[in-house]
Amino acid sequence: MGSDDANTILHLASLATPMALRVAVTLGLPDRLRGDGAGVAELADDVGVAPVPLGLLLGHLTTLGFFEHTATGYRTTDYGENLCGDSLTTVLLNLDTAGGRAELAFVELLHSVTTGRAGYDRRYGRDFWADLAGHPPLRESFDRQMAHRLRAEVPQLAAGYDWGRFATVVDVGGGPGTLLAAILAAHPGIRARLVDLDVSAAARTFAEHGLEDRASVVAGSFFDPLPAGADAYLLCDILHDWDDEHAGRVLDRCVEAARPDGRVLVVEPVGGRRAGTDMDLAMLVIFGGRERRVAEFRELAAAHGLALDAVTDVSDGRSLLEFRIV
Ligand SMILES: C[S@@+](CC[C@H](N)C(=O)[O-])C[C@H]1O[C@@H](n2cnc3c(N)ncnc32)[C@H](O)[C@@H]1O
Repeated sequence: MGSDDANTILHLASLATPMALRVAVTLGLPDRLRGDGAGVAELADDVGVAPVPLGLLLGHLTTLGFFEHTATGYRTTDYGENLCGDSLTTVLLNLDTAGGRAELAFVELLHSVTTGRAGYDRRYGRDFWADLAGHPPLRESFDRQMAHRLRAEVPQLAAGYDWGRFATVVDVGGGPGTLLAAILAAHPGIRARLVDLDVSAAARTFAEHGLEDRASVVAGSFFDPLPAGADAYLLCDILHDWDDEHAGRVLDRCVEAARPDGRVLVVEPVGGRRAGTDMDLAMLVIFGGRERRVAEFRELAAAHGLALDAVTDVSDGRSLLEFRIV
């Protein structure tokens, strides 16, 4: 291996830049250094950190073009503006949000690869969902992240499938209800219920969209019996959070609740189609889950009384798998 390759690999593997970016966003440095910027001592005082290490952090991010020197300190560059404000990028980089905190589970990747289990539980002493339940601000940041991450795809998901053939839909683990609200807005004939451990964000979403007469929320676990008798049970980005045993239990709950001619609709990034390999690893370290491939979904579903009828690449990032009960 040439020294160029070795340097490239070491550069790729170094945690310095990923962590420097995350710490800068968590401290709000890009926002604080917009415009004329500030001196290091003043900024350190402002954000409550030590000036010398802060200078090291800004120095590294300046070599990468996020900040630039001024006569008296640093200011954010146009490129660094990408780290400002409330965007999916800043939500994911902020170590105080659910997404930023979860990313640190990658430190436990060796444990996850060795055991197949989540690194998150090992790092934080409880699983991701219990952690959110124990920290309401984390839960709130997670719901914001979920809404942000689907924003661009929601119109594709709502338009890319014939939802209108269903009179009743249960959104299983529906989170903030962003997708369901868009589906209901596009199809006035559908009535829906959304089940989640925490339904406060979804209740707000439905109220904001004036959908309370057609959409209701049910606080509860999808490992318990689901609202019965619907035409379709939607699982958007649910199964990839779980190992086969738990994913199978969620499918069982859908099958036993659905009408005999009902459908189970799985929407998520599918391995080999829309899923990136980095997300695969993220699902592993955070949840002990993975981005399954179509054949894996078919096999898992068959073991729980479902047959795969169709796969549609319904949006830029996700596929929709339609299952019928056999
Ligand atoms: C990745 S989010 C997806 C949310 C939503 N389907 C979407 O696509 O925006 C997973 C959701 O599963 C919910 N969840 C996790 N465990 C659950 C359980 N045991 N019962 C019900 N919901 C659960 C979480 O609260 C979260 O809202």
